Amino acid sequence: MAASNFLITLIFNYLTVYASKEIEESINALLPEDARLSFTQLATKYGHPAIEYEVVTEDGYILKLFHIPGNKGRPVLLMHGTAESADTWIIRGNLSLAVALANSGYDLWFGNVRGNRYSRHHVSLNPDDDDAFWNFSLHEYGFYDLPAIIDTILNKTGAEILNAIGYSVGNTIFYVLCSTRPEYNSKINVLMALAPICYLQNVPPPLSTLIQLSPLIYKLFTDLDINEMFNDNSLLNTYGKFICTRPQIGYDICIKNLLFPITGYDSEELKPAFVSVLVGHFHTSVSSRDLYHLAQIGFRKTFAQFDYGSAGNIEKYNSTLPPVYDLNLVTTKIVLYVGLNDFLATVADVAILRSQLPNVVRYIISPRWKCNHFDHVNGEHVNDYVFPYIRDVLESY
Ligand SMILES: *[C@@H]1O[C@H](CO)[C@@H](O)[C@H](O)[C@H]1NC(C)=O
Ligand SMILES: *[C@@H]1O[C@H](CO)[C@@H](O)[C@H](O)[C@H]1NC(C)=O
Ligand SMILES: *[C@@H]1O[C@H](CO)[C@@H](O)[C@H](O)[C@H]1NC(C)=O
Ligand SMILES: *[C@@H]1O[C@H](CO)[C@@H](O)[C@H](O)[C@H]1NC(C)=O
Repeated sequence: MAASNFLITLIFNYLTVYASKEIEESINALLPEDARLSFTQLATKYGHPAIEYEVVTEDGYILKLFHIPGNKGRPVLLMHGTAESADTWIIRGNLSLAVALANSGYDLWFGNVRGNRYSRHHVSLNPDDDDAFWNFSLHEYGFYDLPAIIDTILNKTGAEILNAIGYSVGNTIFYVLCSTRPEYNSKINVLMALAPICYLQNVPPPLSTLIQLSPLIYKLFTDLDINEMFNDNSLLNTYGKFICTRPQIGYDICIKNLLFPITGYDSEELKPAFVSVLVGHFHTSVSSRDLYHLAQIGFRKTFAQFDYGSAGNIEKYNSTLPPVYDLNLVTTKIVLYVGLNDFLATVADVAILRSQLPNVVRYIISPRWKCNHFDHVNGEHVNDYVFPYIRDVLESY
């Protein structure tokens, strides 16, 4: 009992207590410059100054949208994955997708979902004090954030339709949007889905075990009032930066023992030097409800809205079960790009998604057979095994 209380206190503190400014600064001083720069600073450093916009959603969240202007083809919207931000697309610097596409002249827009380091704002709710701020999951990303972002881009550019690139849950949210607000299908020309997450019933252990245990874990978290995970200033993130960058042992702990068992193993594409940059950007804030919604999709084997339990569902949805997202309504053109060594967006789960989407125009298996969930945007040689396919899709449709 004492041991479990100790563990719970430890989890609670590491997730919810912020590190002091002094600790934060002394740990940041050990990291390379790119770990500390924001999206806009990185964009400037790598030769493509970005413009920042604020997008306010129907339900009051204030989201940051970055724009690297260009004049080639349709505007391109890039959406990051879970517990990430737009930084994902640029932290590889000159090797990143943002810089590669900007060098080719594309008009690039980088979204940030509610809650992350750039979008931790609301017209009336305070993310530090109001639990209601964190009362969202990927449903709200798709139903509120994405349409606000898309409409802003179409308004600013005068375009009628855009191209999209989504990584991981950054494409799941397009399925949420297009099934719940089908009028948005006609605003998206093609979605390039990298490591597409939808079904999660074929993920291997240890994640499958966590998914099975998730109702208990979520109950513990809600009892402790932990609604936000991976805050940038939390002790977890701060000490994580220090531990994960200790030579060799840090890589063994954080990457080999924590990250790879979830994403698939590929140490050739993720070297310690890049980990030192990565820790400054990943993870960033996400709601515990979002992670639990993903876990529900896994153990319920159904792509549906958040499950509040039968009483809660009747109140919220007028039905004992949460509504299923109808993938038949997702008529936008979709290209699926899959890694054979991806433990999260497994080939088996993508096959279910593919069989239900009515308009998959291409299905691509990464030529790098060791391509794991992380490699699609973070790999050292994405320029060889991902970018040519992206360029081809942007030019072909
Ligand atoms: C990035 O690439 C550009 C063009 O090749 C080069 O001029 C610049 O020095 C590079 N920047 C960094 C920080 O490596
Ligand atoms: C979160 O949303 C649900 C469903 O809309 C609602 O029942 C619940 O009271 C909300 N919780 C908070 C803390 O706002
Ligand atoms: C963008 O929105 C503004 C304000 O609602 C409107 O006046 C303008 O015509 C819109 N521009 C385009 C290109 O739709
Ligand atoms: C709730 O569902 C029942 C049965 O499907 C239906 O008859 C009723 O009109 C619904 N109520 C509301 C408020 O939508």
